[in-house]
Amino acid sequence: MARIPDAFIDELLARSDIVDVIGTRVPLKKAGREFQARCPFHDERSPSFTVSPTKQFYHCFGCGAHGSAIKFLMEYDRLEFLDAVEELAKRAGMDVPRETRQQHQRGDFESLYACCDAAATYFGQQLGGSRRAKDYLQRRGVSSEVAQRFGLGYAPEGWEHLKTALGSDERRLALLEKVGLLSRNDQGRVYDKFRDRLIFPIHDRRGRVIAFGGRVLEKDDGPKYLNSPETPLFHKGRELYGLWQVRQAHSRIPRLIVVEGYMDVVSLFQFGVNTAVATLGTATTPDHAELLFRNAADVYFCFDGDRAGRGAAWKALESVLPRMRDGRQAFFLFLPDGEDPDSLVRAEGSAGFDRHLEQAVPLGEYLFDEVGRECDLTTIGGRARLAERARPLLEQIPDGAFRDLMHQRLGELSGLQARVSATASATPATSSRQHPAKRSLVRTAIALLLTQPELALEVHPPFGFASLDQPGIPLLLELLDLCRSRPGIVTAAILEHFAERDEGKALHKLAMTEFPGEPDVWRTEFADAMQQLDRQASAQELANLVARKSSEGLGPEDTERLRALLRARAG
Ligand code: UTP
Ligand code: MN
Repeated sequence: MARIPDAFIDELLARSDIVDVIGTRVPLKKAGREFQARCPFHDERSPSFTVSPTKQFYHCFGCGAHGSAIKFLMEYDRLEFLDAVEELAKRAGMDVPRETRQQHQRGDFESLYACCDAAATYFGQQLGGSRRAKDYLQRRGVSSEVAQRFGLGYAPEGWEHLKTALGSDERRLALLEKVGLLSRNDQGRVYDKFRDRLIFPIHDRRGRVIAFGGRVLEKDDGPKYLNSPETPLFHKGRELYGLWQVRQAHSRIPRLIVVEGYMDVVSLFQFGVNTAVATLGTATTPDHAELLFRNAADVYFCFDGDRAGRGAAWKALESVLPRMRDGRQAFFLFLPDGEDPDSLVRAEGSAGFDRHLEQAVPLGEYLFDEVGRECDLTTIGGRARLAERARPLLEQIPDGAFRDLMHQRLGELSGLQARVSATASATPATSSRQHPAKRSLVRTAIALLLTQPELALEVHPPFGFASLDQPGIPLLLELLDLCRSRPGIVTAAILEHFAERDEGKALHKLAMTEFPGEPDVWRTEFADAMQQLDRQASAQELANLVARKSSEGLGPEDTERLRALLRARAG
């Protein structure tokens, strides 16, 4: 993982507001000192997801999800650590510093993005200059506004246009090749991959161009569509064409429609259906399914009615099943013979397309229809076969009401008794907040420090309790040191610091402690705890010295120490 200086992460978390970050994605309600919501990471009816503005972290009492603003962006927006840090830094108006080695690697990525971006601009300019390409778009009913929104372009006819325009030196040539814009033949000759094609740039979740699709203008000119190969920036199983544009068009996406082609997405958008995305010449993967549901609770899969379409739909179902947590819905729509979303929306408009969507079959129905094919449900054998086929599929569904209902339906169809999964009704403990009274002194001190890291500045080393032989003491010392050396550190940053260590979990638990009263009370409580720890340390030392004195005798130094301890106890 990349090394970003700890101090930067501290400052980033101190300058960001997690309530802001989460609040723009999940509706939060104020509840006392904290904010609450229904957890975005599991399905629930009553809110057990809390966000603490003072500690700058979130925690779900239902599923245990927790972390800082960085972690939230990683989990919710599905960003890598570095991207999450960058996203947050952008909001806070900070520049992410990097150590040299990383800078080098990161620099590579930056150049790859820049290369794709330059190519997209180049293709866009070429579109402006090509009558043929513009005519083609016009014939297909794509306005220049929509073409611009999708960044459509044109790769001119010829072998070395892009290569000459952008590959001005060896380094640039290497970049173009690395992002898949150049091909290399057996003789080692390098040439433009996309030639005389309409270009569809593919954007990532943050709107950066990472790959391209290209369509022939003339019918018999090689494969109809060419796509960028897998590159360091582009993994087709994880990207959805059009998602960036859909996200731009909505603050909250009502539903997503998954179609098969680039042109379908663009055309639907042109006719007012601005919620369509396409997989990129691949089946729907589990990664796609998760990405889809992260963006919308209702997902409509739209397929050709032919054999290939049916196959693709079943693949999608298999990818979606393990993601069907309660609250999510998937539907399957099979289009009339010979139609695709593009032709349909053109013929019937967005209202017509919506009518088709209303006919979409819910996942449950589709599953039993498919599984029940060739099962004669009037016979015992047929019903047994249905049950045998359905069971492994239903096993994939996460616990919850949907899974129970599916089992129930299977019971009705097969005549076998429904087996409701036992775990489904077990509601998670609504509160695992700990009562402060049950904690040891060390834990109380740590919990207080986590509640208010500035408390560390009120005590000064050397600490008498440092010698205390008790679990938690080294951690307390480390925390004190951390908070003292980085004044202003917020709770979430401390937790981030320990995130990858064994202590991380325990610390997070302690950070959840709610101390009654106000900061002044906590200060006194903290000072008391520190004093008591010191006293325990003295008592422990005293006991050790006394024991040693009777077993082996003490040297002059230890004798002096023993006297001092006894005096202190008496006074
Ligand atoms: P289709 O052949 O259904 O094309 O391919 P389409 O979307 O209707 O395109 P138009 O309307 O003729 O322009 C659907 C998708 O399958 C992938 C592409 O992603 C395409 O959008 N595909 C198709 C390829 O990758 N290569 C091909 O040669 C054809
Ligand atoms: Mn089409």
